[in-house]
Formats: sequence, C-alpha cells, structure tokens
Amino acid sequence: MIGRLNHVAIAVKDLEKASGVYKNALGAKVGAPTEQPEHGVKVVFIELPNTKIELLEPLGEASPIAKFLEKSPDGGIHHVCYEVDDIIAARDQLKAQGARVLGDGTPKIGAHGKPVLFLHPKDFCGTLVELEQV
Ligand code: CO
Repeated sequence: MIGRLNHVAIAVKDLEKASGVYKNALGAKVGAPTEQPEHGVKVVFIELPNTKIELLEPLGEASPIAKFLEKSPDGGIHHVCYEVDDIIAARDQLKAQGARVLGDGTPKIGAHGKPVLFLHPKDFCGTLVELEQV
C-alpha cells in the first residue's frame, strides 16, 4: 500500500538554529520557513536527493508538537510520511484491520497542499505515521 518515503519530520525548539545545522554542518539545501497556523507549526523543508526532511517548530499555544518537545527538549524525530495513491482506500483498509486514524478520519490538506492523515503510533511500532496522497 505505501510507496515512497515522502519526508521525515523532526520537531525542534529553534527552527533557525536547526536550519543552520542542516545548511552549514550538513551542507543541505534548506528552504524558507513557512507558518502553518492550521497545523500549529512553523516548517522548513530540506530537499535531499531521495526524500525531504521537515523541521517543525511549535506555532501558537495549542501546537501539537509542544508536548513532544517538553519530553524531548533537544528535539527529535516526530513522524515519518509515506506516500499512498489513494488516501481514502488506504484509510478504509487500515481501519478494517483495526488501526487507529487520528482526528475524525477525514484527510486534511498538509504541508504540500495534498491530503494527509495521521496514524496512531501505538499501532505502528511506536512511530507516528503520516500518509500523503500524491
Ligand atoms: Co509531515
């Protein structure tokens, strides 16, 4: 069902500092920061030859990554995103197998303007999984 790894998301407290690490120490192509108030994050994308890294900084009081950073103040891997051809078919197949889809199960428009869903970490080896329809 899943296809390519679309991105790995890393939560950080300081987006500018984290961008500098990827740009200067690792020599990566780092994009401009964009605010996504509807998701409670400020995001920087880093283009790698085979995938992307998404750096996430909390935006606003109710940011979904604020709690994560309380537990991991140095930052850490927050989720992985896999591509699917048909997000509704993928959701229905996963739900039929008992997997938990976060929220009300309706895909939201994600960082790349494409429909996304998140799957419960407890059902996927302790890792929050994002599915993106491409
Ligand atoms: Co993501």
